[in-house]
Parts: sequence; structure tokens; C-alpha cells
Amino acid sequence: MGREIAQVMGYEGARWLERSSRDAEQPQQAIAALGLKPTDTVADIGAGTGYFTFRISPLVPEGKVLAVDIQPEMLDLIDFVKQQEQISNVETILGTVDTPNLPTDSIDLALMVDAYHEFTNPREMMEHLMDALRVGGRVVLVEYRGENPLIPIKGLHKMTEKQVQKEMEAVGFTWKETSSILPQQHLMIFEK
Ligand SMILES: C[S@@+](CC[C@H](N)C(=O)[O-])C[C@H]1O[C@@H](n2cnc3c(N)ncnc32)[C@H](O)[C@@H]1O
Repeated sequence: MGREIAQVMGYEGARWLERSSRDAEQPQQAIAALGLKPTDTVADIGAGTGYFTFRISPLVPEGKVLAVDIQPEMLDLIDFVKQQEQISNVETILGTVDTPNLPTDSIDLALMVDAYHEFTNPREMMEHLMDALRVGGRVVLVEYRGENPLIPIKGLHKMTEKQVQKEMEAVGFTWKETSSILPQQHLMIFEK
């Protein structure tokens, strides 16, 4: 669809995902914009170290967060924190490049933070997510703004709003909202 796919960020760089400067990107604002219900099941696709997984899990005490990644080393880090902090509503799931391995009608929201642009098989991933989402379920993508050359992230690791919309609509998702509350990223919401 006219986009070059970025390389997958290796688990060796995991600590970068936990950088303290990340607070300036206002992750709590992003999470507030999700409007979660306590009973929601959220899938954090491309969860990495669980930076978002563990910030979301307290907000869904009667639901859960499914942390999906294709690198078992990332899931090991999540399991380590989960055990250490005794968190019971986080589950790790090993996906493959073309499926998040989630059952049909099992999730309310699929969140992808800084991840979709590096999916090697984005279409297959999104088709599976369409199946895994319950009716009215939402997909939320957070990507560094490709329109802004001053954001200090490599070009292939950013996306324009237009490109995200084009790719989501191609698999049948309906655009609901693009929020500009984050300083460097688009937060785009689509519905099944
Ligand atoms: C740049 S990291 C972002 C991690 C996390 N979302 C965050 O914001 O801290 C991208 C993650 O996506 C994962 N990933 C890449 N392709 C994937 C796929 N098809 N399914 C699930 N995870 C994938 C990578 O292994 C990596 O952990």
C-alpha cells in the first residue's frame, strides 16, 4: 500500500522501551483517551516489555490485558514483572508474524503502540484482529507522526494519519477519531 515496512525492534533493545524520558510522551494521556471500562479485555499487540500493559492492567480489574508479542524474550520480561508485582490480570501470548493467536470474539480493544509499522504481515494481522474483536470493539494505533520531519524518529518508524487510515479501511475498520493530545504521536481509533 505504498509503505516500506520497518524492521522489528529486537529484544536486545528492550531497555530503550523503558527509558525515563518516555514520560514526556505522555503515556497516561494516551491511556486516558482509551476510555476503558473495568470489565474490558484489552490486547496489547506488540507489547514489548509491557510498558502499556502494566499501566493499563489496574484500569481493568474485572477484565484483563493480553500482552501479545512475537519475541518470547519480550514475553519473559513481562512474565518476570507480572510475577514480581503479583499481577493477576495480565496474560502473555506468543503470536507469529501473521496472527496474534487470539480467539474469535475475545477482546474489546486492540492497542498497538509504536508497533504496527513493523508488522511484516500487517494485513493478515489486522484480519485476525477483526475476528478477535467483539462487535463494536476498537483498534487503537499510536504512531509517531510521519508528517512531522522534526520528530527525531527514523522515517520508517513513523506513519502519517492518511496512511494508517488507508490501511485500516482496506481491512474493513471504520475510522472514528484521531486524537492530537500526544506531543509526538497520532492516536487513532477505529471500530469493528
Ligand atoms: C517498538 S516495540 C514497542 C513495544 C510497546 N508497544 C511499547 O510501546 O513499549 C514493537 C514490538 O512489536 C513486536 N512485534 C513486531 N511484529 C509483531 C507482530 N506481528 N505481532 C506481535 N508483535 C510484533 C516486536 O517484537 C516489539 O516488541
